[in-house]
Amino acid sequence: MSTIIEPFRIKMTEPLKIISKDERIEALKRAYNNVFLLDAEDCCIDLLTDSGTGAMSTQQWAALMLGDESYAGSKSWKKFESVVKQITGIKHIFPVHQGRAAESILAQTIVNKGDVIPNNSHFDTTRANMEYAGAHAIDLLCDKGLNTTLEAPFKGDMDIENLKKCIADNSVEKIPFCMITVTNNTGGGQPVSMNNIREIKGVLKKYGIPLVIDACRFAENAYFIKKHEQGYQDLSLLEIAQEMFSYADAATMSCKKDGLANIGGFLICNNDQWAEKFRNMLILREGFPTYGGLAGRDLEVIAVGLMEALEYDYQVYRHATVEYLGRSLIDKGVPIVRPIGGHAVFLDAKQFLPNIPPIQYPGIGLVNALYLEGGVRSVELGTVMFGRFDEQGNELPSPLELVRLAIPRRVYTQSHFDYLIETIDAVWEKKDSIPGYKITYQPSFLRHFTCQLEALE
Ligand SMILES: Cc1ncc(COP(=O)(O)O)c(C=O)c1O
Repeated sequence: MSTIIEPFRIKMTEPLKIISKDERIEALKRAYNNVFLLDAEDCCIDLLTDSGTGAMSTQQWAALMLGDESYAGSKSWKKFESVVKQITGIKHIFPVHQGRAAESILAQTIVNKGDVIPNNSHFDTTRANMEYAGAHAIDLLCDKGLNTTLEAPFKGDMDIENLKKCIADNSVEKIPFCMITVTNNTGGGQPVSMNNIREIKGVLKKYGIPLVIDACRFAENAYFIKKHEQGYQDLSLLEIAQEMFSYADAATMSCKKDGLANIGGFLICNNDQWAEKFRNMLILREGFPTYGGLAGRDLEVIAVGLMEALEYDYQVYRHATVEYLGRSLIDKGVPIVRPIGGHAVFLDAKQFLPNIPPIQYPGIGLVNALYLEGGVRSVELGTVMFGRFDEQGNELPSPLELVRLAIPRRVYTQSHFDYLIETIDAVWEKKDSIPGYKITYQPSFLRHFTCQLEALE
């Protein structure tokens, strides 16, 4: 059969409210034109994030009941530790409540003021944590990753020559570690090749610089490697993931993505001194090292979810849904990032709304138009999210202006996707009437979450 079906059937449903257009106009006003401030029940199809929004399997719900809530050394911790060790082979494992807690502990213990942290593209919380610790977070994405129309297989790769240059330009002592984000969320959900990870490790090894993988979507990345990189077709996703982690000295993980859980994460490392520092900070910030901010039942759910994310049939279905959405939009001429990424379809707001200059936030214009049209909630990844300024305080446009339609795992069916495609098509038809925006309030960090905006005339 050529039809790819969901490798599950639905046992429980959750009502979905569809409010009227007038109600949506009022809701967006109340949210100061920032969709992060909307009530979730005012959103019909909620694609704000794929993080923590997935549906759990029967195995996960069953595992939840096995949660051992002992403060220290629980059976659930043992299961969690053994699964993370099986996948990553990394020695020290610390559970945390979500990915940014891992980033924060890493930054607060290892990073010093003035340090430089290279990455293919820092995710917003990663950048904020590194910068909060006083470091310069530098993106070294390969050139093809910046070209949103080029069909190439591994556009999340880091530019190796730029990595070498970055090391040459900064003293090695100023680079406490280098990161690589798989898949590259900020750059369109594009995967990183095994060859690139191996090459990065090769360069870093010469200088004794550790490699830290931001592993949120490690299983989706493993699937791309199996599909597109020579030599990996006959390996299981688990074997591919194991090789990816074999090049890492440490990793941060949000289990809200490829842990198929609603909460959780981990920080892992091989270095005993790092582990000592992580443990002390974990106790201060999160909890005792065998639960680290999570309930025993969460540890159980993650242990099952991490292995389910590596099931081949699940990844085939997952990628087919994202492809279905992306292909339908391409057929209608809607500009999207190519090739279609792993966890989301990214609309190219620069091409969608060429008349809105970056400083008037075309991404926000598009996000709000999608909400008003069909109650679809998406997110801007552009000038507002990356909020960068020059030394005179002038706002710097982001190189990419994207709108991410992140697909929650195992949640929406094909008719939801058809409704979504119809909504985007309707907005595409009226693109010339979409306004730009200005910010009327912003906090000093991660402004996109809480800033307030006003439509320009
Ligand atoms: C690549 C990447 N790194 C880190 C994080 C942070 O994880 P969390 O939201 O669990 O704090 C995210 C979340 O979306 C992410 O996509």
